[in-house]
Amino acid sequence: MKVHKIVSFSMILLTCAPWCIFSEERLLVNMNLVGNASALGAYCLDGSLPAYHLHRGFGAGARNWLLQFEGGGWCNDIQSCLVRAKTRRGSTRYMNKLEVFSGILSNNASLNPDLVLKAEHLYCAYVKQTSLLYFRGQRIWKAIIHDLLPKGLGNAKKALLSGCSAGGLASFLHCDNFSSYLPRNASVKCLSDAGFFLDERDISLKHTFRSFYEDLVSLQGVEQNLDKNCTSSLYNPNQCFFPQYALPFIRTPFFILNSAYDVFQFHNILVPTSADIHGHWNRCKLNPAACTTIQINILQEFRNDMLSALRLFYMYSRRGGMFINSCFAHCQSESQDTWLAANSPRVHNKTISEAVGDWLRPKLQVKLKINAKLVNIEKYFFQESLKNKDDTKYLPAGTDNCLST
Ligand SMILES: *[C@@H]1O[C@H](CO)[C@@H](O)[C@H](O)[C@H]1NC(C)=O
Ligand SMILES: *[C@@H]1O[C@H](CO)[C@@H](O)[C@H](O)[C@H]1NC(C)=O
Ligand SMILES: *[C@@H]1O[C@H](CO)[C@@H](O)[C@H](O)[C@H]1NC(C)=O
Ligand SMILES: *[C@@H]1O[C@H](CO)[C@@H](O)[C@H](O)[C@H]1NC(C)=O
Ligand SMILES: *[C@@H]1O[C@H](CO)[C@@H](O)[C@H](O)[C@H]1NC(C)=O
Ligand SMILES: *[C@@H]1O[C@H](CO)[C@@H](O)[C@H](O)[C@H]1NC(C)=O
Repeated sequence: MKVHKIVSFSMILLTCAPWCIFSEERLLVNMNLVGNASALGAYCLDGSLPAYHLHRGFGAGARNWLLQFEGGGWCNDIQSCLVRAKTRRGSTRYMNKLEVFSGILSNNASLNPDLVLKAEHLYCAYVKQTSLLYFRGQRIWKAIIHDLLPKGLGNAKKALLSGCSAGGLASFLHCDNFSSYLPRNASVKCLSDAGFFLDERDISLKHTFRSFYEDLVSLQGVEQNLDKNCTSSLYNPNQCFFPQYALPFIRTPFFILNSAYDVFQFHNILVPTSADIHGHWNRCKLNPAACTTIQINILQEFRNDMLSALRLFYMYSRRGGMFINSCFAHCQSESQDTWLAANSPRVHNKTISEAVGDWLRPKLQVKLKINAKLVNIEKYFFQESLKNKDDTKYLPAGTDNCLST
């Protein structure tokens, strides 16, 4: 799930002379263990104490908070959870003691001008206990929030809950709960980056990813923590783990950042290895320009299904925003080159950083609404990448500065 980092790193190597690679100062942030989390029974998969990385805001941002869930996938059975429990994704024993804050987490005003300068980096696993493993994500969430409230979160002016990938999904699932902890007069919003995992059949027409989530939800006892309005409205309540079903019930203003050709979803939802045992898709997966016409049509259908799943939100959400682009990427807010750089992806000529910035500052949005002649400036909705559906070889990369292809 961290492929984008490697990809963007190699881009830096390609576009930068060696002496400029590390010319920017990197913001390195220490890990804090939540010492008294055991009082709430909050443990990581392996029983270690949960932790987060905190960098304090300053100046005008002193009372603004950004909480970011890190990505890193999930485990869905005992075997995969046992493996995970021995990694930084399941145990703070292995978690990075120093974390780099960049992109949306950067504290450098020229690299992250619109964003609040107070950041959290959160990570850990999810709810319930077996003899060997702890599934206590909900308690970790509570313990960390309770730890942060007296540190200033409880007195916040503005707060943004965000996350990428699995963390982007967590942002959907915890958004309203987050909002409930903050003062009523605070401005609270949520953002998901690459977390809009689609309930879609794979190319062999199997519900591979739905089964994966079902296993995960039942193993980890997640159902009790899903939105009650959502679970009571669906025949299969576990489906509320998918953002497309949970979204209509989220009351807090939400921003959805996702690629319609999200590479993780392409490789794991649409074309998982189990659905392509002969490897017909291998070349296309490595390089979209090598895809056949049939494969591109299948990718187009996936994109259309994602846009359909977002349509009601696009049309009816009054305070929502979105940036749906067409890069073969996964997670675009955490690395500087996709967040804000000269050649970052753009939709309606806005970088992700600018689009999120506009959405965070409603007064500016009103101004722009008049000037920009968009239906609604809060919504950055990318429809241009494949204007002509028949022109199947016209690949999306390039039209909006996709760095990853
Ligand atoms: C902020 O970023 C700019 C542009 O990359 C860089 O020139 C400057 O040195 C950075 N400032 C700090 C304090 O790192
Ligand atoms: C943990 O300690 C913090 C202060 O360091 C306190 O605010 C919080 O309520 C405590 N949490 C529990 C569960 O005791
Ligand atoms: C919200 O109200 C409290 C209590 O009246 C006040 O202390 C705080 O500064 C207010 N916050 C904002 C963002 O106005
Ligand atoms: C938020 O989540 C915590 C942890 O599960 C729970 O104790 C609390 O009741 C929730 N708050 C609301 C308003 O649902
Ligand atoms: C969820 O259900 C409660 C209680 O029935 C209701 O008050 C609330 O408005 C519902 N929220 C949404 C977003 O439908
Ligand atoms: C796009 O934005 C850039 C910088 O933000 C600006 O220089 C350029 O003129 C804009 N292009 C169009 C077509 O508006």
